[in-house]
Amino acid sequence: MYYPEELVEEVRTRSDIVDVISGYVKLQKKGSNYFGLCPFHNEKSPSFSVSPSKQMYYCFGCGAGGNAITFVMEYENYSFSEALKMLADRAGIELPKEDISKEARARDDLRASLLEINKLAANYFYYQLHKPQGEVGYRYLKNRQLSDETMKRFGLGFANKTSSDLYQYLRSKGYEDSLLKETGLVTIEERGAHDKFWNRVIFPIMDVNNRVIGFGGRVMGDGMPKYLNSPETRIFDKGRNLYGLNYARTSREKYILVCEGYMDVIAMHQAGFINAVASLGTALTSQHAVLLKRYTDKVVLTYDSDGAGVKAALRAIPILKEVGISAKVLDMQPYKDPDEFMKNLGAEEFKKRIENARNSFLFEIDIIRKEFDRNDPEQETEFHNQTARKLLEFQEPLERDNYIQAVAREFFIPYEALKRLVNNLGNKIGFTPQNMEEREREKKSLGGRKKDKEDGIRQSQRLLLTWLIENPGLFEKIDGIITAEDFKEPLYYKVAALVFEGHAAGKLEPAGILNHFINDEEEYRDAAALFNASLNESLGNEEQKKAFSETVLKVKKNSLDYASRNVKNIEELQNIIREQAALESLHISLE
Ligand code: GTP
Ligand code: MN
Repeated sequence: MYYPEELVEEVRTRSDIVDVISGYVKLQKKGSNYFGLCPFHNEKSPSFSVSPSKQMYYCFGCGAGGNAITFVMEYENYSFSEALKMLADRAGIELPKEDISKEARARDDLRASLLEINKLAANYFYYQLHKPQGEVGYRYLKNRQLSDETMKRFGLGFANKTSSDLYQYLRSKGYEDSLLKETGLVTIEERGAHDKFWNRVIFPIMDVNNRVIGFGGRVMGDGMPKYLNSPETRIFDKGRNLYGLNYARTSREKYILVCEGYMDVIAMHQAGFINAVASLGTALTSQHAVLLKRYTDKVVLTYDSDGAGVKAALRAIPILKEVGISAKVLDMQPYKDPDEFMKNLGAEEFKKRIENARNSFLFEIDIIRKEFDRNDPEQETEFHNQTARKLLEFQEPLERDNYIQAVAREFFIPYEALKRLVNNLGNKIGFTPQNMEEREREKKSLGGRKKDKEDGIRQSQRLLLTWLIENPGLFEKIDGIITAEDFKEPLYYKVAALVFEGHAAGKLEPAGILNHFINDEEEYRDAAALFNASLNESLGNEEQKKAFSETVLKVKKNSLDYASRNVKNIEELQNIIREQAALESLHISLE
């Protein structure tokens, strides 16, 4: 659905960015801008800024940026039109009804089509489960003690043994092969089309807005693989979604339970723990952690009791810690997973286990302890050393001391001695909090430098545009030297044309310019990123003034080089050579 530009701009201007973002992020005013913790990456101190004058946001930490519309797109995982609809509703603006044919829409908005097809497929699977051919699936779920209500709540379904009935069904609804391929639900080969899922109970995977973005399927019997998931598609990114979060986000509990499997989530929800989620057949990623952080800062890990589960917990703990989530680890012994636990000991007992869940650090130390025979003095010493090294993870002295105390108490190590050991070790390997920060900074700037080199020209075009937007006074300085045509990167050219035009007309509105890119989501995101000057990119000191003139020259030089490669006649070439020579002696002063 394409909305006229004026309408988009009306929705945007009537959605004050500070208002909109305040609904999601706690903001504090500092000077003329607002700051808060970035919802798009892991951080403990606020580097996410919102500018009421520019009507844009920008994160100095991760570079996320845009206007009110992109914010809602990013945060809610919405497409452009979905975000626009939400903001329009909020502002009391009525959008025209969609009236294009199914085919045209499918072409225009792949994401919307994929969601639509997934919804149809989920309904189809659900319907099958309750038909005679789905009885084997229904029975299986009943055997696993799921109630009809639970099956309904999770939309559980069944994929038949026949190998292409879903495909036939979707074709009958008018969808073309080219589109169906993108859903990951079917494979289409020369010999014919096949359903990806067959002879499996089906778990539709929903995003936080209850939209079906993919499927999981458990085989009937002992076939392989036991669980099969949809492949990644335009709407399904396993690293960014958690099964059950659509319900867990509505729970009033202060923590979220994170487990391994679909059945675990469902068993816990059925037992009343609606704050349970699972990562989808993959290890917990830092994107998962960021997602969780939107809803909680406490997680209770309920991974399987086996070795793999312990490993998964050990991997997840630092990832969660990184985003500021403190984790606890629940002990399910003697049962393997929450599903089994619930069946055998029930909800009451599970609640107790949650209350007794182990502090993640002590859990980690306990795992280390198991590697050593504490009756052997040599091994005991090594255990102490490893424990001390791990305690150095805590950079905050008081926090570290609290943990030294807890570890000393729990593992029967004399407190004073452990403390001395930690400090000595810290001094010896130069592992002080300060220099750890320094190392981090170094790592970052090294990465930065490398990237600059890779796309220096792109970078200078981007910088120059950013500066011009930030500080329209600079237009004077480049007058007669740079025009929009000098931006050779296609996207930057488009933006530059609008920026120059806006400046000439006396109304340069960055957030509004973004609306010109609504038809291409990727361009939109890139353009949004362009409009954000980070502090070290805005012009302040001498060095930056020098950088400005160098950047202008670089952009111009690249533009002339480009022109010289594409000349049509000798006259043109002579002109370019003249301009190139003039460039050598050109000096741009900011004074
Ligand atoms: P049930 O036997 O149905 O109780 O499974 P479970 O929930 O005990 O599953 P298990 O501990 O074997 O696996 C936990 C989770 O890992 C599952 O929910 C899946 O998400 C994932 N998983 C397990 N087996 C496979 C597999 O063969 N392929 C894929 N892709 N994922 C799997
Ligand atoms: Mn199980």
